Order: sequence, then C-alpha cells, then structure tokens
Amino acid sequence: MKRRVKIVEVGPRDGFQSIKEPIPVQKKLDVIRGLLEAGIQKVQITSFVSPKAIPQMQDAEIVAKTILEEYPDKELFALVPNFIGAQKAVEAGLKELTPVISLSQSHNLANVKRTHEQSYEEIRKIRETFSDRKLTVDIATVFGCPFEGEIPETQLYWMIETLASMGIRSFTLCDTIGIAHPSQVQRMIANVKARYPQFQWNIHIHDTRNMGMINSYAAIQAGVDEVQTAVGGLGGCPFAPGATGNTATEDLVYMLEREGYETGIHFERLLETARTLRAEVNGNYSGHQIMISKQPCFVPQE
Ligand code: COA
Ligand code: ZN
Repeated sequence: MKRRVKIVEVGPRDGFQSIKEPIPVQKKLDVIRGLLEAGIQKVQITSFVSPKAIPQMQDAEIVAKTILEEYPDKELFALVPNFIGAQKAVEAGLKELTPVISLSQSHNLANVKRTHEQSYEEIRKIRETFSDRKLTVDIATVFGCPFEGEIPETQLYWMIETLASMGIRSFTLCDTIGIAHPSQVQRMIANVKARYPQFQWNIHIHDTRNMGMINSYAAIQAGVDEVQTAVGGLGGCPFAPGATGNTATEDLVYMLEREGYETGIHFERLLETARTLRAEVNGNYSGHQIMISKQPCFVPQE
C-alpha cells in the first residue's frame, strides 16, 4: 500500500504576503481554485492581519467568503495574528484558524508587535471565545531567528506547554527564515511527537538555502502530520530579513509521487496553476518544475 502524505498549501497566504504590488482579488481566487481543482485538500487561503502591516491581505474577507462558498468540502484555514483577526476570520466562516507566535521574542515583536506574554493572552482569549473552532498555532523561528540566532530547544517545550495549558492541541513548527537542516528537522519532529503524542504536528519550511525539499522530506520521514508548501515556491515573511519562498508544492508532489507516496494531487494540473501564477504575478519563485518546459513527465496522472 502507498504511504499517504498530507500536503497543505500556504501559497495564497505566505506567497501572496511576500508581494508588495497589489494582486487583483480575481487573480488570487483563480489561483486558489486551481490549487483546489488539482486535488489539494487543505489550503491556507489568506490572513486576517492589519492592512497597515500587510496591505496585500486586505481582501481577506472576500477571498474567504468566496472560496468557502464554492468549496464547502475542502479544509480552508487562515492565519490570524491577534484577537481582531480571529474575530474577522470567524465572521467570514472559517473553521480553522492559525494564531502565530515566534519562539524568539525579538521576532515576535517585529512580526506581531507583542511580547510573548501579550501573545499568550491573545491566544488564550481566542481559544476561550471561539471554542468551536480548530486552532493550530504556528510557532515561528523554531529552527533559528534572524535577530537571535538559534533558540534552545527547552524554550520550545516551555512554549508548547504554555499553549497546551490553554487548550491548544495542534502546532506547526515553522522554519521562518529557511535555516533548518535535515537532521535537526527530523530530531525536532521526533522529539515533539515523543513528548506530546496526543497533539498534531505540522511543518512549515522555507527554501532559502536550497534545503526546502530535503527538510520537508526529513519531516515526512519523522512522521509529521501535515507538510506545508507554497505553489511555485513563493513566500516569505515581510518581518524576517532574508526570508525567501517556501518549499514549492509542485516540486514536493513530483518527488513524493515518484518515490511511491500518495499525495492525492494531480501534478500536471498543479504545475499549470504554478506556471500561470508565475506568468501573471511578479515574485521570487524558488520552484524548479516551473522552470522546465517540454520534458516528459513521469508522474502517473490518476
Ligand atoms: N485585521 C484588521 N485590522 C486590524 C487587525 C486585524 N487583524 N488588527 C489590528 N487592526 C487594526 C486596528 O483596528 C487598528 O486600526 P485603526 O488604526 O484604524 O484604529 C490598527 O490596525 C492598529 O491596531 P493595533 O492593535 O494597535 O495593531 P498593531 O499596530 O499593534 O499591529 C498586528 C499588530 C498584529 C495587527 C500587526 O502587526 C499585524 O497584522 N501583523 C501581521 C503579521 C504577519 O502576518 N506576519 C507574517 C506572517 S507570520
Ligand atoms: Zn512562512
């Protein structure tokens, strides 16, 4: 039997947030539709952030309402940096929200303008108020921070336990600046799974040093629940100097399908969406499959 991997697409949030020039909402919707039609089951469709912090995301409500109505059977979720964002996401109808906190205090201040204590309070309030929604907390800079370097692993456990005491049961370990290496990823996933087997563990990797694929693969081999990627390898946190794109979804799908895993994603359709995006939206694309043209494709299509 084929091993199944759950690839979660974050391009419509992490990818689009990295682009300054406004992308027309219809274009965003078409990209999201293309991803869902290619068979991706779970997509982070937007973020409910301050329009002053990230103007690109000011159409979050339209994006969320439109896609939720068109695809009621898909798993659609959004990033929320604070309580106001969570409220807006819930009003738009999202069932899963992603509050974000950075392991490094300096990046937390740069990203959401809050100390750890203030972010904990915000997440606690979100958990208590929206008790019927799934919360997955994104822990940023887990593998290294642009301001503080590597953060001791003990601080990660302390953060997880603080969040768990509020009722958080699902976490994404984020390599915000793309500094992780494979054995570190494998060890961290194995460690959190061994310590907290009752929780869900996801990985979010950036490809800054050309280690996106190998780090994503290391996480899969360590038994991660969800692997986040972005179409075309677009992405990057505007508040983390030097951050580049995520692992490209189509590259990971290609490799996994060829390695005998089952992703449920139609590679050629996904590639078509990636190529259209690259042709229509200027950005830094780290994906490799989108650069190749007219070559045989060896991935079975159905
Ligand atoms: N959605 C929409 N508007 C929001 C908002 C949200 N989630 N949060 C705050 N605002 C508005 C407030 O209503 C206020 O509006 P006003 O000036 O018209 O009164 C204004 O933004 C400032 O609010 P404040 O609470 O003081 O926010 P802030 O300036 O301290 O910024 C964040 C804090 C978290 C809202 C902001 O830093 C942010 O959105 N960061 C996004 C981080 C991110 O997405 N990073 C990349 C992904 S990891
Ligand atoms: Zn990211």
